[in-house]
Amino acid sequence: MAVYKIAVLKGDGIGPEIVNSALRVLKRLGELSGVSFEFEEGLIGGIAIDQKGEPLPQETLELCLKADAVLLGAVGGPKWDNLPTSKRPEKGLLQIRKALDLYANLRPAKVYEPLISASPLKEEVARGTDFIVIRELTGDVYYGEPRGIFIENGKRVGINTMKYTEDEIRRVVKKAFEVALKRRKKLTSVDKSNVLEVSGLWRDIVEEEKKNYPDVEVEHLYVDNCAMQIVRRPSSFDVIVTGNIFGDILSDEAAVITGSLGMLPSASLGEKYALYEPVHGSAPDIAGKGIANPIATILSTAMMLRYSFNLERLASAIERAVELTLQKGYRTPDIYSEGCIKVGTEQMTDAIINSLEEIW
Ligand code: NAI
Ligand code: MG
Repeated sequence: MAVYKIAVLKGDGIGPEIVNSALRVLKRLGELSGVSFEFEEGLIGGIAIDQKGEPLPQETLELCLKADAVLLGAVGGPKWDNLPTSKRPEKGLLQIRKALDLYANLRPAKVYEPLISASPLKEEVARGTDFIVIRELTGDVYYGEPRGIFIENGKRVGINTMKYTEDEIRRVVKKAFEVALKRRKKLTSVDKSNVLEVSGLWRDIVEEEKKNYPDVEVEHLYVDNCAMQIVRRPSSFDVIVTGNIFGDILSDEAAVITGSLGMLPSASLGEKYALYEPVHGSAPDIAGKGIANPIATILSTAMMLRYSFNLERLASAIERAVELTLQKGYRTPDIYSEGCIKVGTEQMTDAIINSLEEIW
């Protein structure tokens, strides 16, 4: 029987607390389903700097390269804030994403009915929102050459270059179609093809690939219009795919409409490797207090089960267990509202495991 090997990088701050919760849920799910998970831990971030002198030690990288998937907590904290940028905990994250050649970042934006009042949108607008933003990670204006500040006619000029190769676009677009096939089969491609040639190429490639995915309905939106529609009709989206810079902005816009940072998972996928982590950081202000919300990390493992291991039944069991636990009224302090049951990290994890047992 298959054994799924997971590299576990807990990191700093609340990282160890929330990752431990997620591992407890996975272990229980393994027992219930008969699927075997193997966890092997590596150091990353500030703790790796303290113990090994660098944010991504070679042995951690090797561990990740031979694992089937990577689960990461969060890195960073005030202790390391005075180090130069090249030596900071966050550098470990950038290095690992690059080493694993992760090119598609998936950020779900789901509004849970029991938490709907946390959304800054009107309830009738927010209700039913459940979409994923897929942001290309390796190209675009962040990496294109030439770049820099130059002198032209005695005046300074700043230059960045928006650049995408056909292959870079195609691989992320294919990934997006595949994700859409596992969901409600609707893909929105976002560009600015009314003014940018790069976007014209992007749109052409989406049209070419569409022929390979006849079951997926495709919509094209200009990025400025998409930014408006996300707050006007968020529940109409299923999968949104876009380039690096538009995705940077739209994924944060999408995150905010859910109203709860502690609930947001993410996946970064490449051809061979994948990394799963909550969207939030290491929350040093609450680290060690036992009150961190573990749900973003638990939902990140659900994404791992779906996208790395193709274990759809297990993935949706975790998601339904989280939903049921919220319906029962359990809340960590960050999502608490009056009349609910206030719990810490451990109790929330217990409650989710109980829900999982009920629905399995
Ligand atoms: P943050 O996301 O760590 O925290 C922002 C606020 O949200 C804080 O008040 C925090 O207590 C709260 N929060 C975050 N996650 C929570 C959870 N699971 N449960 C309950 N409350 C939660 O962002 P911040 O404060 O800007 O950064 C703190 C550190 O984390 C910095 O060193 C930063 O560089 C690092 N960071 C790391 C990231 C990563 O590892 N991927 C991403 C973002 C920041
Ligand atoms: Mg951003």
